[in-house]
Amino acid sequence: MKIGLLGFGVVGRGVYEITASRADMQVAKVLCLEDIALPDAKAVKDFNEILTDSSIDTVVEAMGGLHPAYEFVRAAMEAGKNVVTSNKALVCTFYDELLPLAESKGIKFRSTAAVGGGIGWLSELERSRRVQKISQVGGIMNGTCNYILDNMTRRGMSYDDALKQAQKLGYAEANPSADVDGIDTWHKLLLSANIAFGVTLDRNTVPVAGIRNIRAEDVENFKAHGLVCKLISTAKCADGVCSAYVQPTLVQEGEPEAAVPMNYNLITFLGETSERMSFYGQGAGRYPTAYNVVQDLVDVLAGKGFYAPYGSRAAADNSEELVYYVRGSWTGGVEETWGNAAVTKAVPVSEMHAWLKENPDAFIAAIRQM
Ligand code: HSE
Repeated sequence: MKIGLLGFGVVGRGVYEITASRADMQVAKVLCLEDIALPDAKAVKDFNEILTDSSIDTVVEAMGGLHPAYEFVRAAMEAGKNVVTSNKALVCTFYDELLPLAESKGIKFRSTAAVGGGIGWLSELERSRRVQKISQVGGIMNGTCNYILDNMTRRGMSYDDALKQAQKLGYAEANPSADVDGIDTWHKLLLSANIAFGVTLDRNTVPVAGIRNIRAEDVENFKAHGLVCKLISTAKCADGVCSAYVQPTLVQEGEPEAAVPMNYNLITFLGETSERMSFYGQGAGRYPTAYNVVQDLVDVLAGKGFYAPYGSRAAADNSEELVYYVRGSWTGGVEETWGNAAVTKAVPVSEMHAWLKENPDAFIAAIRQM
């Protein structure tokens, strides 16, 4: 396999290093705008040098961002090259174009590192759906949010200090809004749900609430009630009806999610045969992410394409009712008050997210029942 590597940052350099010692694949050219000299590959500044090189059969996209990553990936597919990417925003945003294009061109397209970084999550979903129906996917999918929430909970750190620290450690996206507003988790949930359930979820029907507005007083309220706040994604599908949402969620201190420290991820599926299966590990970082990119390259060599066929469109029905912790001007039913916050009566998920849109300074967290 001859590889054209797009990007030589955190992930790209890791892919270059891991593949350097392998006999079955070789990075032939690296697209990098800085001047670099590599012993085993040619550094190029023009993508066309990779696109028009017929000896390159596979492109690894490790640039991040939507543009020009999308244009390059699309052009590579149209030219008949296989594509491996770790870019969840790209795969999710252009799912409706890239999946059918990969299928019509007969090229291999994989993105295991896009969800869970070093965890073999999408590849396990692919294996799982061969033998059973999956009814639920989700969990802690964003290291930055988990790092912030864990440091606020266990170390009493302020939100701002914990976010700054996450940025310094390289966990956060270039624009941390993608992390703290839940967008990164939302991308990862959509991809997971599409693969697990064999559908294409309508993104506009999947609401997201992030952790931007959490305060120390909220964390104190949670501790007083034996609860821990995590940003949790949830998607369910049964008898053709799907629900999906991302929101801060209060879990009991003894639950597995409550124990997830620092920037780790914990992602779970429920299968009709396997029952609950959870996957824990590094959701980001050079070598964990590059590890799964190289796993995808090995799978491409073995003839494996995307994890599931492009599925039919499905709208999420979020009429499920949950109890929420709300700090803000909630005027709906209230069960009790915790300091300045209300614990609501059961309310449909869709209704709470619609209210949050009108009250963007509020903080909400669903209270998960055991
Ligand atoms: N910013 C992401 C996170 C990186 O914190 O999980 C990995 O997708």
